[in-house]
Amino acid sequence: MRQRVGILGATGMVGQRFIQLLENHPWFEVAWLAASDRSSGKLYGEAVRWKLDTPLPERVAAMPVSPAAPEGAPRVIFAALDADIARELEPQFAAAGCAVITNSSAFRMQPSVPLVIPEVNADHLALVENQMWRKESGGYIVTNPNCSAIGLVMALKPIVERFGVEAIFVSTMQAVSGAGYPGVASLDILGNVVPFIKNEEEKMEAETLKLLGRLNGRVVEPLAAKMTAHCNRVAVEDGHTESVSIKLGKKATREEMIAAWAEFVPLKGKDLPTAPEQPVEFVAAEDRPQPRLDRMRGAGMAATVGRLRPCGLLDWKFTVLSHNTIRGAAGAALLNAELLVSLGKLDPVAVPA
Ligand SMILES: NC(=O)c1ccc[n+]([C@@H]2O[C@H](COP(=O)([O-])OP(=O)(O)OC[C@H]3O[C@@H](n4cnc5c(N)ncnc54)[C@H](OP(=O)(O)O)[C@@H]3O)[C@@H](O)[C@H]2O)c1
Repeated sequence: MRQRVGILGATGMVGQRFIQLLENHPWFEVAWLAASDRSSGKLYGEAVRWKLDTPLPERVAAMPVSPAAPEGAPRVIFAALDADIARELEPQFAAAGCAVITNSSAFRMQPSVPLVIPEVNADHLALVENQMWRKESGGYIVTNPNCSAIGLVMALKPIVERFGVEAIFVSTMQAVSGAGYPGVASLDILGNVVPFIKNEEEKMEAETLKLLGRLNGRVVEPLAAKMTAHCNRVAVEDGHTESVSIKLGKKATREEMIAAWAEFVPLKGKDLPTAPEQPVEFVAAEDRPQPRLDRMRGAGMAATVGRLRPCGLLDWKFTVLSHNTIRGAAGAALLNAELLVSLGKLDPVAVPA
């Protein structure tokens, strides 16, 4: 039998992706939807402005939107709320015994909250056992990273493992869907670039170092690398593109860099339904990756790397692209949930001794 799950923020951009990715999922079934007061009490099909290019599933369209409160919610909650609202609501769900698997930034940097990409730092999930909710009700919060950090970190992980990374310089070109719906006004973005995304650079820098950090007992020691990020919004619908320069701990050839990405298959054999076969795909063509052509690699779950060349300032530079609402949001949370199932941590009634 499939596990019943709920979606908090079900009507938003990321909430819609959850519905799309959970349709026909072999392990999970959408059983509960919640959003703001604007939507609750309506049928989902009336409340949502469906923006995806696959049809809204009829069964989901006919489901009621519930108030965003834990009463009557399933024990597994995928959350896609704005950070301020998440800060207030997610602890209520965790305290009520729910596993809250969230996209929001509200708790990502809290020491006892795991910030996880399954291919990168699955071991950090052990942190949930330190959360007071876990001890009291069985509930907990697990987070996935900001949509700009995830592609970068996937590309860096195999390089950090083999050669070490001492400095990271990244400049992003981020899609408009990353700002939710309706997001950036069309008059601000059409024919334009906006060189500011509130708090994004700070999040990207802090999260990247936590994700690549080492779990030492009850704390994550961040990667000891220098890092700077420049974040820009561009007139692209989906897919964040990033220009990256890195300084390595020890020298590597072009062939060794490419081999590190090609041989990076950390989830092989785990049979997680949403895991891409090849998490980091290298493309040799000189003008790739591009959002329109490459964002759906690995069903939107792979990061695509290209344009590897020597850097005049640091050691190597390259471009990385990932789908911001699939790999960067709903798909990332779904893969975290699948990993939790495989580790036996998604048992809805489990309260650790
Ligand atoms: N878009 C991305 O690429 C992306 C990537 C990674 C992480 N994230 C993060 O994911 C979260 C959601 O982003 P999004 O792009 O999906 O935003 P969005 O399109 O603005 O959707 C926000 C959702 O939250 C609901 N909501 C608003 N106020 C609420 C309240 N007081 N109580 C309960 N629900 C409320 C909305 O419901 P109504 O429709 O009823 O207003 C809607 O379902 C944010 O924290 C964002 O930073 C987004």
